[in-house]
Amino acid sequence: MKILALESTCDETGAAVVEAVVVESGVEVLSSVVASSSEMHEKYGGIVPEVAAREQVKVVTSVIEEAMKGVKREEIEAIAVSVGPGLIGSLLIGVETAKALAMAWEKQLIPVNHLKGHLMANMIRGEDGGMAALPAIGLLVSGGHTELVKMKGIGEWEWIGGTRDDAAGECFDKCARLLELGYPGGPAIQKWAEKGEGGSKEVKLPRPMIHDGSLEMSFSGLKAAVAKLVESRKSLSNSDKCLIARELNEAVVEVLVSKTMKAVDDYRYANVWLAGGVAANKMLREELERRCVEAGVKLWMPEFKYCTDNAAMIGAAGIMQLLDKSWVRPGVLEVRAEPGMGL
Ligand code: KG4
Ligand code: ZN
Repeated sequence: MKILALESTCDETGAAVVEAVVVESGVEVLSSVVASSSEMHEKYGGIVPEVAAREQVKVVTSVIEEAMKGVKREEIEAIAVSVGPGLIGSLLIGVETAKALAMAWEKQLIPVNHLKGHLMANMIRGEDGGMAALPAIGLLVSGGHTELVKMKGIGEWEWIGGTRDDAAGECFDKCARLLELGYPGGPAIQKWAEKGEGGSKEVKLPRPMIHDGSLEMSFSGLKAAVAKLVESRKSLSNSDKCLIARELNEAVVEVLVSKTMKAVDDYRYANVWLAGGVAANKMLREELERRCVEAGVKLWMPEFKYCTDNAAMIGAAGIMQLLDKSWVRPGVLEVRAEPGMGL
């Protein structure tokens, strides 16, 4: 069963063809094409929604054509598309394109929640074959969301915690802007953090809500603390920037890992699924892996290329939805631009 999937919730435009041959062995990605307008946002230090959407209109057709190379449209069973949460202009491009294609090619449409899509990147067949196991605690960390979910089965999701304010990725992006490290901020913070040597004793940032006994998080205070640090110094040397980047990366990772392990303890689940753009962070992957091994639970993480926005993960979710209808609320192809998970 082959599916064409589209993703356009933010500044990326993705198309992918994915296939589930034997469901237990995971979803095979036949093609995954991603076009990004991130360089265009660099000079503003963040995404300009109108610029993103205008770029997406230009590239969406060629991205789909490239993903469909070597695949006949008759082989496609259905078209999956991200319906939100996301930027309204960007979302509409993917959704309207998917609707038009579905009508012209007479295919079924599968609406996919972008956040579930991120987590379902763990269903993509890895190098060792197979797919992630359930039940699991899911940690979804992206530019717009930081959420903990309990996943009993494919369609059984329950929100159990998350950030009260900024997302972890947003915190990286805003702090990178304050430190003038470029956009997107997460990879820039990681790069500068890796250059920082000898620990981060000279700079101390808070670990918000880390010991409050809840599964809630907060990252806006960290952003404020970095702003204060920047203001308090006349100018920042490169080595100052390295130290701050490293301390910030450590602070965010410590909070994320500690809350995830608390969820594992609370619910006694044997699997953890990591997902979202921030899941590409090396320190996060290594620290969560270390703590999961210590606790005797299995950590599942997507390959780097399936952490940040892509259509393969939407295809993986689409296939799972087709096979197990229990997880979709019936009859909707509604675009959800407003915040919130919409699970
Ligand atoms: O999932 P994603 O591509 O888009 C959203 O759905 O938001 O996530 C983008 C976020 C951005 O905030 C970006 O700075 C962050 O993921 N990110 C990273 C890394 N790569 C991307 N954060 C930390 N370390 C990384 N290596
Ligand atoms: Zn995303």
